Amino acid sequence: MIGCCDCSLINDALLEEEMGIRAKFITIISVLSLLATIAIGYTSYMLSRQSALADARSKGEMLFNYIEASAKFFGKYQKPIIDELVTDKSRFIPELMSRFVVKRMEYDLFAETQKGYQFKQATLDPLWPDNKADVEEQKIIQYFASNPSAKDKEGIIERGGEQFFYAARPVKIEKDSCLNCHGDPGMAPKEQQDVYGTEHGYNWKLNDTVGASMIYVSITHALATAQASALKIFFMGIGCLLVTIFCIWIFLDRGVVGPIIRLSETAKNISIGKNLCDSAHSEAKDEIGVLANSIDRLRISVNKLLKRTCPNQKPGEPDKE
Ligand code: HEC
Repeated sequence: MIGCCDCSLINDALLEEEMGIRAKFITIISVLSLLATIAIGYTSYMLSRQSALADARSKGEMLFNYIEASAKFFGKYQKPIIDELVTDKSRFIPELMSRFVVKRMEYDLFAETQKGYQFKQATLDPLWPDNKADVEEQKIIQYFASNPSAKDKEGIIERGGEQFFYAARPVKIEKDSCLNCHGDPGMAPKEQQDVYGTEHGYNWKLNDTVGASMIYVSITHALATAQASALKIFFMGIGCLLVTIFCIWIFLDRGVVGPIIRLSETAKNISIGKNLCDSAHSEAKDEIGVLANSIDRLRISVNKLLKRTCPNQKPGEPDKE
């Protein structure tokens, strides 16, 4: 027989174990669900970000192609007529005769109604000061200079605290005729020298990569939306997680831990020969029910061993008291 001094130890051990099961189970479920929620939130952000970038890429490409088509039209159809009509070869009217001026001024008009985009003919040493490449653009131009086969480059860049998707295409001096205006400054049209001076935008060489056409598409708003929806998903996940944990807690309390405490109490009582007529029989078919009925059989066996009879006990049947 187990001495009474051991009972409190058993009780404590059982209590600790009972707390342990619930705490362990809830901890595992919480950690796994939290990880899953973070993974889902992160994946949602990455997917939204990817689709925002794909959207920016297709818009940027469309704008780029339209600008290039317009410039091609100028070079192919308008420029020959202009050259024919302006018979005084010393004349140079930038808005009429330079493709790059036409592109820039045309885009400025477009930008008046269309926000969220930027177009720049970023150049290392430009005639028009606003075309001067910034540090990031200089890196892109360097990239095109050292990778002559590269036809475009794209990425994400921060400008003035705003996030942009950018697409870049190189500008190379492929024709000698370019150098009429960008070579020796003394040889450039007089009117060009008057407007742009003779300091910058000259002494370019054939085959030099002098700049890059840049299209910027703002993605700040799209990224903020992606972030907001990912956070929404994350907090919804956390909400579901809390409800789930609460339900699991209630279930463990009523369905597992409570019955185990009662059964351990019964087993303890049996071990010290107390309440031997209190039935622990259970109708439940689950593991707890099986355990309860085993403990009840143990109680009946102890009763038999001790040659005790309980009131209302029918032979072969569990006692009902
Ligand atoms: C008739 C003179 C002339 C010719 C020829 C010419 N350009 Fe220009 N180019 C200009 C002027 C003027 C500007 C200034 C643009 C502005 O005001 O935005 C310019 C601007 C540019 C720019 C933008 C950077 C800057 O300097 O402001 C690039 C790049 C450029 N030209 C490249 C070329 C290339 C490549 C060729 C040959 C295919 C060429 N140019 C032929 C006159 C010319």
